[in-house]
Amino acid sequence: MPEPKENLLMEKIVSLCKRRGFIFQSSEIYGGINGFWDYGPLGAELKRNVKESWWLTMTRQREDVAGLEATIIMSPEIWKASGHVATFADLMVECPITNKRFRADQVDEQSGFAHRFIGAFNRTLLSAAMAELASSTTSPIHGFDKAQTNEQVLKLIGFINRSNPTHITLNTVLAGEPREDFVRALYAYCEEVLKRRPAMDIKGPVAIFEEVNVLQPYSSGLETKNLYKTAKAFYEKRGIVDPILLLAGRKEVDKTTAYNPENGAELTKPRPFNLMFKTFVGPVESDDNVAYLRPETAQAIFAQFKNVLETSRQKVPFGIAQIGKAFRNEVTPRNYTFRSREFEQMELEFFIKPDEAIEAISSSVATPATKGHPGEPQANWGWQLWHQYWVEERIKFYEDIGLPRNSLVEYWQKPEELAHYARATVDILYKFPFSKRDEKGELMGEELEGIAARSDFDLSQHARFSGKPMGVFDDELKVAWEKLPKEKQDDLWRRYYENRKKYLVKTGLASEQASKNATNDANGLAKGQYLPHVIEPSAGVDRLILALICNAYNEDQAPDEKGKMETRVVLKFHPRIAPIKVAIFPLLKNKPELVAKAKAVRDLLRPHMNAFYDEAGAIGRRYRRQDEIGTPFGVTIDFDTLGEKGDELKDTVTLRHRDTMKQERLKISELLPFIMSKIH
Ligand code: GAP
Repeated sequence: MPEPKENLLMEKIVSLCKRRGFIFQSSEIYGGINGFWDYGPLGAELKRNVKESWWLTMTRQREDVAGLEATIIMSPEIWKASGHVATFADLMVECPITNKRFRADQVDEQSGFAHRFIGAFNRTLLSAAMAELASSTTSPIHGFDKAQTNEQVLKLIGFINRSNPTHITLNTVLAGEPREDFVRALYAYCEEVLKRRPAMDIKGPVAIFEEVNVLQPYSSGLETKNLYKTAKAFYEKRGIVDPILLLAGRKEVDKTTAYNPENGAELTKPRPFNLMFKTFVGPVESDDNVAYLRPETAQAIFAQFKNVLETSRQKVPFGIAQIGKAFRNEVTPRNYTFRSREFEQMELEFFIKPDEAIEAISSSVATPATKGHPGEPQANWGWQLWHQYWVEERIKFYEDIGLPRNSLVEYWQKPEELAHYARATVDILYKFPFSKRDEKGELMGEELEGIAARSDFDLSQHARFSGKPMGVFDDELKVAWEKLPKEKQDDLWRRYYENRKKYLVKTGLASEQASKNATNDANGLAKGQYLPHVIEPSAGVDRLILALICNAYNEDQAPDEKGKMETRVVLKFHPRIAPIKVAIFPLLKNKPELVAKAKAVRDLLRPHMNAFYDEAGAIGRRYRRQDEIGTPFGVTIDFDTLGEKGDELKDTVTLRHRDTMKQERLKISELLPFIMSKIH
C-alpha cells in the first residue's frame, strides 16, 4: 500500500527537525525514552520566542493580568482538592503479548475473524507422546475408551506427522468428540510420558490452557501468517517452547476496538490509570511523603490566588498567567511531540464576578449578540461574554504568530463532553497532517488549547480542602446591593444560593448542611462577598511549536548556482517567532574588508535580535541553509557595500526576503528599523 501523503509529510518534518537541530529524542544515545523530547539550538530559540509572545500578549501588554512562576512539586493536598488524585485517569488497555498500553478510546476499529485459542502444547513432547500412543495396544488415555482414543490419536498422529502444524484445529482434526476434555486427558498423558522419560529434557511447561483471542482483520487480506505468529508469541511468553496451538473456533466481529491493531491480540479490559507521576519528598519512601509532578500549571494559580490578589493590587476581573512544565504519564504518547509525558503549558486563569454580582451592579448581564470578538471588556459582561472574548483573543494570538485562520478549528464541546463543573469549553484545534479526516475528507484538527468557563469550582475546592477563605470582598457590589429593590435582592440571593447548593451537594455534603452553607454564601453575596468564577485559556507550548513547524513547512522550486531549478525546502515562520531573524553573509570569506564589514553589521543587529553570521560556501547555498530553518531575512555584504562602485552604493547591502526570494538594496542604517518593524 502506498504511504499516505500526510505520513510522508510528517516524516519529512520529523527528519528536518532532527537534521537542523529543532527537536531531538530525549536520551537518544541510550535508545531514547518514550514520550520525552529535547529542543535543539533552533528549537530552543523557537520555543523562547513563542513563550515570549504569549507572555507579552497575555500579561505585559495588559493591565489586568499578573504573572506567576510556581514550583512543579506542590503539596499533595492541592491534587486532592483539584480532583486529580481521585479522577485524573485515562481508561487503559494492554496487549497481553507486548504489554504495550493504549488509551481505550484511541484503539482503531477493526473488523474480521476473531480466532479462539484455548492453549498450546510443547511440540517435542506432544510428538513423542503421539509416537508412544501409536504403538500402544491398550487405551492409555484416562477416561476415554480404546476405540474412541485410538480414532482420535490416529487422526492426530496423522495430522502432526503430515503437516508439522502451527496449530491443531479442534473442530476438524478432533471432530465429533468432547474435544477439550480429550485435550486435557492428552495433557495428563504427556506429563506421564515426561515422568517416564526424564532424559527428554523438555524446557518449560508441557502445555498451557490459557485462552487468547486473536483477530485476523479483513484489512490484512486475511493472511493467516500473522495470526499464528501472534498466538505463538502469547504462549511462548508464558514459557511454552515451540508451541503447537489449539484452535477452538472463530467468529466474525464488526468494528471492534478490542484487539491490538499491531498484532491482533485481544487487549485487556479497560482499567483506569492515573496519569500523575509520583515521587517522594525527603529521604523516606512512605505514603506520608508522596508528592506529584504537577499535571497542569493551573492549580498553583488557584492556590496562590489570595497572595497575588493582595500583592498585585488587582481587582476582579483580573487574571493570573503562568508558563511552565507539566507532566503526565500518558498511556500512549504519540504523534511526535503532540502527546508527550513532559511538556509545557501556558495557562491563564481569568477571575470574573459571578453573574449575580454583575446583575446587582449593572442591573443586567450583557448577552452575546453576535459571533466574533465582542470588543473591549465591559462592566456588564457575565461569564458568557468573557468566555467569548477569550476564545477570540486566543485565536487572534495564533493568527498574529502565523497560523492562518483556516488552519484552526473552533470546537465547542458538547454538553456530554464537558467536565461536570464547566459551563462551556471551546477547544482550538490545529489541522495537523496526522489529524483524522471527516466524511468530506477535511482534516478535523487536534487540540492546541482549551478555553473553559470553569465556574467557581476551583476556588471553592481549595477553600474547602485548605479551610482558608478564597472569596473576595467587592465594595462596588456591596454599595449596589443596598440600593436594589427587595424583590431583586431576593431573586439574586436565591439564584446564588441555588448555584452554591448545587456545588455543595456534589461535593457529598448532606442536603441540610449544604443548604446551611449555601445560605451563608448567599448572605455573603448580599454583603459584597463572593468566590470569583474563572475563564481558563490553557495552551500547550509543545503542540504549538509542532503546529508552527507543520504550518511553516513548504517545498517550492528555486534555481541553484547554475540556474537549474531544484526543490527548495523552506520554513515560512512568521518573523516574530523565527529562531534566527537575520543571517549576515560576506560575499567572499577571503576578502578581509568584506568579512570585517559583515561582522560590523552583525554586531549592529545582534543586541536587538538573534542574528547569525555565515561565511561558508557559495552564497546560494548559504541562502538555502537559512531558508530551511526559516530565517526571514538574509543580508549580503558585497563590493558595492565597500564603495567600489562609487559613493551611492557605499554602505548599502542586499536584503533578501526568504519567502519571495526577492532582493532589494538597503542602507545599513535602515536595516535595524526595517527588521525590528517585522519582528515585533
Ligand atoms: N488546566 C487545564 C488543562 O490542563 P488540558 O486540556 O488537559 O487542560 C491544556 O491541557 C493544554 O495542554 C492542551 O490543550 C495541550 O495543548 C496541552 N497538553 C495537554 N496534555 C499534553 C501532552 N500530553 N503533551 C503535550 N501537550 C499537552
